[in-house]
Amino acid sequence: MKVPRSSGLAALVPFLSLIGHAASINLTVATSGGNSSSSTPIGIMFEDINHSGDGGIHGQLLRNNGFQGDDQNLTAYAAIGSASLAVDSSTPLNSAITHSLAVTVPSDATGEAGFSNEGYWGIPVVAATYNTSFWFKGDFSGALTLRLVGASSGTVFGSASVDVTGSADDWTYVQTTALESNATAPDGNNVWEVVWEDASAVAGKTVWFDLVALYPPTFKNRPNGLDPRIAEVLDQLGGGFLRFPGGNNLEGESEDNRWKWNETIGPVEERPGRQGDWTYPNTDWLGLIEYLEWAEDMNLFNILGVWAGLALNSGGNTPLTGDALQPYIDDVLNELEFLLGDSSTTYGAQRVALGYSEPFPIPYVEIGNEDNLSGGCDSYPERFQRFHDAIKAAYPDIIIIASTNNADCLPSPFPEGAWQDYHTYSARDDLVGQFNLWDNWNRSIPIFVGEYANRDSDEQQWPYLAGAVSEAVFLIGVERNSDVIRLAAYAPTLQHVNGTQWVPDFVSYDASPTGVVKSTSYYVEQIFAANHGDTTREVTSDTAFGPVYWSATADSSSGAYYVKLANYGADVQSVSVSIEGATGSAATTTLTGGETDANTLEAPDTVVPVSGSVEAADGVFTLELPAWSVVVLSTA
Ligand code: AHR
Repeated sequence: MKVPRSSGLAALVPFLSLIGHAASINLTVATSGGNSSSSTPIGIMFEDINHSGDGGIHGQLLRNNGFQGDDQNLTAYAAIGSASLAVDSSTPLNSAITHSLAVTVPSDATGEAGFSNEGYWGIPVVAATYNTSFWFKGDFSGALTLRLVGASSGTVFGSASVDVTGSADDWTYVQTTALESNATAPDGNNVWEVVWEDASAVAGKTVWFDLVALYPPTFKNRPNGLDPRIAEVLDQLGGGFLRFPGGNNLEGESEDNRWKWNETIGPVEERPGRQGDWTYPNTDWLGLIEYLEWAEDMNLFNILGVWAGLALNSGGNTPLTGDALQPYIDDVLNELEFLLGDSSTTYGAQRVALGYSEPFPIPYVEIGNEDNLSGGCDSYPERFQRFHDAIKAAYPDIIIIASTNNADCLPSPFPEGAWQDYHTYSARDDLVGQFNLWDNWNRSIPIFVGEYANRDSDEQQWPYLAGAVSEAVFLIGVERNSDVIRLAAYAPTLQHVNGTQWVPDFVSYDASPTGVVKSTSYYVEQIFAANHGDTTREVTSDTAFGPVYWSATADSSSGAYYVKLANYGADVQSVSVSIEGATGSAATTTLTGGETDANTLEAPDTVVPVSGSVEAADGVFTLELPAWSVVVLSTA
């Protein structure tokens, strides 16, 4: 619009204030009232998908080390020098690890011989002391060289010679921390090698190897612990809970293929592993106790998923009901006794014998996963009720979560005190459309948003900014109703970019030492996790929701306010936030960029949060929300 030339300043004032008024959204945060809100709203949903466990957050770096799963092959191994390799079922390590690597050296061998393992599409070598181990069987005693080597460059990052004493009749365990890398590798293209430097020492012989293992210093130095590259990123999220072990990967393709708690505990050589639901074998070295230690080390509480009679059997599975269900209910009670019982109980004594004298905290148990799907709906009312009743009878304090909120698949009446799980993978506009989903929700049944994500299509490689803003809008809707919508987690959490079954993902990585990417979705959750009070506060406005969305919470002890704002649109928006009595400055955290900007391995810092501050004038904070942005204002 053109301003008339003849207009003086006085004539302009009404016009400018009209523009200002039309463009501005005026919010007033109530300083009393509201509902108590969830204290731990954000958390982690974890299952082994996308090589998120083996090859991901679990610290052991060598792949296919126990030849587990459905297809025994030489994946990740290569012969060195004159050696030849084979997967052998005739020389098993034990009844759990039924295959081994046979390394045969010809009778006229000279020079080097041995084998390498390339890890999960490479090994992230850093300057550190590695913990490496293996089992071997064969008529050989003498020196073996262990090396970390650049696969293309030939650079030796670390080398150690170990003297071993073998036997043709028995397996020998070798473990050493003598392997030190003197440098961080420039990329992930590295292998671990086991070498006879003089192959004549084993000429004409076969030596068997099993459970080769390589760990960097682990997160919090746990034995069999987590890879700090990835664990530290999840720790920095600041979430409150860990849901495990799935997800589909809990369910199995058949009853027998389900995740079995008792096969994931104890010495790793006694864990048979299984064919996971996401196309690759699981070693189960990231087992039940390792999950609980993960939660302990990140100060997370546990949401334990248990198998509920429904497998995903692609051939058409009938969920278990009636008497057929009882052994599986008993199995869950055994698992809980293992976790919670004292040494006078059968399974509690088993835990104590493994070195864990104290029980683990299990505040929540989720019965199954997505039992509204995969033919599970009709039978879930019975299945849920029976697991629920059995667990509640033994452990009245545990909160039981149903794996769906679909009333058609749930018992009626729904047991008092139990929760329901809601999942949504939605195109970004649909996720924004769920902003007010909870506003008139039945307040009597708490909801756990166990899995959410913007997913425009199954081709969407990366979370991107506008999608992350749509997730922020969804989470603002959750926060406005956090008296009843208690917890939320993005899914899937982790992705090895070379072994992916599901995109997009929260945190992605390859095998390079620095190749870990926090997505735009990650930053939304991180900002939200760091900024919330314990009471929701009503926010009144002169403007309807959309494209700007907001919520506010206050901390009853500190008196701090946290106001969350999302601008799901391409225009800058002016917002004033009035908090009666507010003085001084408030901190702001802003996530913004181009609509389709994404953090990728090539450009991991395309969109990152930026800190700022804003001064109160007469209790009013005035902000400009950039296009496609998430902004949190904190008076803490
Ligand atoms: O997060 C990926 C999958 O999505 C989970 O395994 C399942 O629960 C859901 O369908």
